[in-house]
Amino acid sequence: MSSLAPIRKVAIVGAGQMGLGIAYVSAVHARVHVAIHDPSSSVLSSAMELYRSLLSRDVAKSRITQSDEDAALSRVKSVVGDGSGQSGETIKDDVDVVIEAIPEIPDLKLGLFKKLGGLLPSSTILASNTSSISITKLAAAAGNGASSEERKASASRVIGIHYFNPVPQMKLVEIIPALQTSQETIERAKAFGRACKKEVTTSTDSPGFIANAILMPMINEAIMVLEKGIASAEDIDTTFRLGMAHPMGPLALADLIGLDTCLNIQKVLHNETGDSKYRPSGLLSRMVDAGWVGRKAGKGFYEYDAKGGRLTIPPSRALVQQRDYRARKAEKIAQLQQTVEELREENAALKAELVDMKNRENARLKGEQSADIAVDSRVNDASGSNFSHIPQPGTSQLDSDRLNTPLSNPPFISPLPGTTFPPIDPGDTNCCGGLFDCSSSTVTGLGANSISNPQIKADTVDPYINIQHRHVQDTVERSVGHPVDDPPPFQLDPTKCCYGLVDCDLVAE
Ligand code: CAA
Repeated sequence: MSSLAPIRKVAIVGAGQMGLGIAYVSAVHARVHVAIHDPSSSVLSSAMELYRSLLSRDVAKSRITQSDEDAALSRVKSVVGDGSGQSGETIKDDVDVVIEAIPEIPDLKLGLFKKLGGLLPSSTILASNTSSISITKLAAAAGNGASSEERKASASRVIGIHYFNPVPQMKLVEIIPALQTSQETIERAKAFGRACKKEVTTSTDSPGFIANAILMPMINEAIMVLEKGIASAEDIDTTFRLGMAHPMGPLALADLIGLDTCLNIQKVLHNETGDSKYRPSGLLSRMVDAGWVGRKAGKGFYEYDAKGGRLTIPPSRALVQQRDYRARKAEKIAQLQQTVEELREENAALKAELVDMKNRENARLKGEQSADIAVDSRVNDASGSNFSHIPQPGTSQLDSDRLNTPLSNPPFISPLPGTTFPPIDPGDTNCCGGLFDCSSSTVTGLGANSISNPQIKADTVDPYINIQHRHVQDTVERSVGHPVDDPPPFQLDPTKCCYGLVDCDLVAE
């Protein structure tokens, strides 16, 4: 449209990353003069430094010549103040377009448009780079700021020109006319967008327009996926980069846009639509509370150096690593505890087994010992050296221990080979020696003999006792010290056979 009034001078309010980017494409591509306003001189000087470095990069990459750079530098000037006269210098009334790029806070923007509506002639386009705030409301504010005659005209020059971050790289602007916006304003805005070397799309004035109505819920969902611990920030972003060929994942993109901006956009979307799908995630709000608003703060979902470069270990990954480390540690502790428990149980079982073995061994030793004692005692008893535990002559006591101790096997019954048995004192007339049935409470003598009563015959023995008579004879002979009548063969249960000396009175005839 050749009749469109040309745009030669632009004022930008807000020297943040968007404002500076818009200044860059305006000066470098659209080749217009730019006054960039910001109440903060330090923000302004950072912006100008970035502007110079972008130009130097372009020269280094042969995108522009040195004279292009010089010209671009001369086209941009920084102005301290909000542009409305509230602080610092006001925007000059000869500018063709004002592009507002201040924080995404409705009251701030509405206040600025009201002031600019009264300050600048209605030929000056008032554009907002808002991501979500109603352009119609901004137009109304600009109308309200103007005189009653100018109200309509003041509202009709308001439009949304929405750039994307990083502005020098992103090839798009969204044009959003308000209900009040004039066709001329729309055409001039589109033309300016193209002059900035951007493709232009148009959206009606609906919350979030085209881009953020779709992008913000996606970013918010990504934050919720992180919040729920479904995946790490790295994995969420990698999924989008490699799975959907996005140049960056939604969390890295949120860091680039600024988490404060994302939160503000989401609040607007939520308030304007009342739709719960736009409610900002709790984590996003908390991160903004913490001041972790992304690249510009050096920290968001990732950490950045002073130049906005990503540090190697993002906090999210560090958190995941820490969480993994804790989980591994807890798992290790649980394993160790289980091992300790198992060792305790094993130890207890071993102890019990040991005690059992010890008891069994003791019992076995005791058994062997008592058999040994039985043998030894027999020897001792027969040798007369250990009579203390056998019935003494003249008593009618059985040596019950001895008598009740079964001999374990036949060889014990027989005196050990080579054993000499000194004779029992012939004076002990009541003492009987020999083999007895120890299972009986009365002593049934078998092969038993006594000095005073050598007639005791083995045939008085219970018939079940079976022992080779030779053993008995030997035993008796040796224990009494002289030959006894040949006992007849008889039965003797070896397990019930006792050997010793008893009161002969107890020996059954
Ligand atoms: N400002 C200016 N230039 C930047 C920049 C920044 N913040 N970040 C990167 N660049 C430049 C680099 O200097 C580099 O330039 P050269 O080609 O001249 O060397 C170029 O971009 C490519 O950068 P890198 O090689 O370092 O990295 P890359 O290839 O991954 O590209 C990216 C970086 C351009 C940011 C790319 O990842 C990308 O396109 N990301 C998606 C960005 C996006 O979706 N933006 C829209 C956000 S929505 C929005 O802004 C609107 C809203 O309302 C919220």
